[in-house]
Amino acid sequence: MSVKLKSGHEAVPLEEEELAQQEVLFRSYSEGMVRLDPGGWFLHTPSLKLADNIYEHKYRPSDVIIMTYPKCGTTWTQEIVWTMWNNPDLDHPGAKEQIFLRSPFIEADSYLLSRHHPPLGDAAIQAYRKAFPHREDMKDIFFSLTEVAPDPRVIKTHLPLSLFPENLLETCKVVYMARNPLDVCVSFFHHCRLFFCQDYTGTFDQFVDLFVKDNLIPGPYLLHLKEAWAKKDHKNLHFMFYEDLKEDPLTELKNLDAFLGTELSEDKIRKIVDYTSFSAMKTRAIEGLLPVREEVAKETGGFFRKGESGDWKVVTTPEQERKILAWMESGLKGEDLKFKYMSRK
Ligand code: A3P
Repeated sequence: MSVKLKSGHEAVPLEEEELAQQEVLFRSYSEGMVRLDPGGWFLHTPSLKLADNIYEHKYRPSDVIIMTYPKCGTTWTQEIVWTMWNNPDLDHPGAKEQIFLRSPFIEADSYLLSRHHPPLGDAAIQAYRKAFPHREDMKDIFFSLTEVAPDPRVIKTHLPLSLFPENLLETCKVVYMARNPLDVCVSFFHHCRLFFCQDYTGTFDQFVDLFVKDNLIPGPYLLHLKEAWAKKDHKNLHFMFYEDLKEDPLTELKNLDAFLGTELSEDKIRKIVDYTSFSAMKTRAIEGLLPVREEVAKETGGFFRKGESGDWKVVTTPEQERKILAWMESGLKGEDLKFKYMSRK
């Protein structure tokens, strides 16, 4: 039976065969899956209540939302924006705290609802207990922490614009980060093997098929991109590409500085570029809140895996490349949206 969400979407449960395929490929998707109409947004059924809470949440004028499809460099952008706002002199003691706690991931709870999921790290539990000493339950941990986070909040989400209130861009700022879909597919595959919240058991070939059929949470990457691209000239939306940030972080951070109105000197921005480089973030190891498969982390490098553009060429076969390019061609028809590092040469 379908359910109506506050956003107006209809949540339609997956048919038995499709659901069975998901449950085999992802050990953590054991409580049902839905596809939202319109859009085809793909969600784990227990997260529908959270989707309503996120839609109805009161966003604040000082909020900055870091919105990306998974693996587009969300954590990187989150760390940059949080640092520009809160730690421009790089001397903030709270910067050592786990990034998901000081810069909350609003729908993180939706990844923890499976019975299969191991317990959360102590840091999250302590932060929740400290914020809500009188609560006995441990429900909606990250959403609750988002609600009480002090201004200015830097909120992370992988959900698309259309699952937020229509007036979001009239209320607060959104930084949207995009990444070459071939690299996203490779990085997402490794991510889903690494994290218990997906616990993917299939091959890369099967993953490419899920990717091009839009059968991965949170749903169609190309629609996610197009919704934001359509708003790229809105004064409260800043559209960025992973590849540009990687190639010329100084220019990209200067652009962000102008968008956020943080008015940092070039010297400070240069230091933040170094502080948020791949190697610096990997060394600080600000991951660790959500449990991962240690054997996969050892094999692939963990969450901070490679941090490169064009890595897809190493692992993607010509046939897999062809499938992704065909999907991009039809999904981006008529769009003036181009990606770098698309050629094998
Ligand atoms: P790879 O798997 O290709 O290495 P997200 O935060 O959206 O999950 O994105 C994670 C991807 O961004 C991973 O890509 C990760 O290594 C990369 N990443 C994280 N921090 C980065 C940084 N400071 N510079 C470049 N890439 C970074």
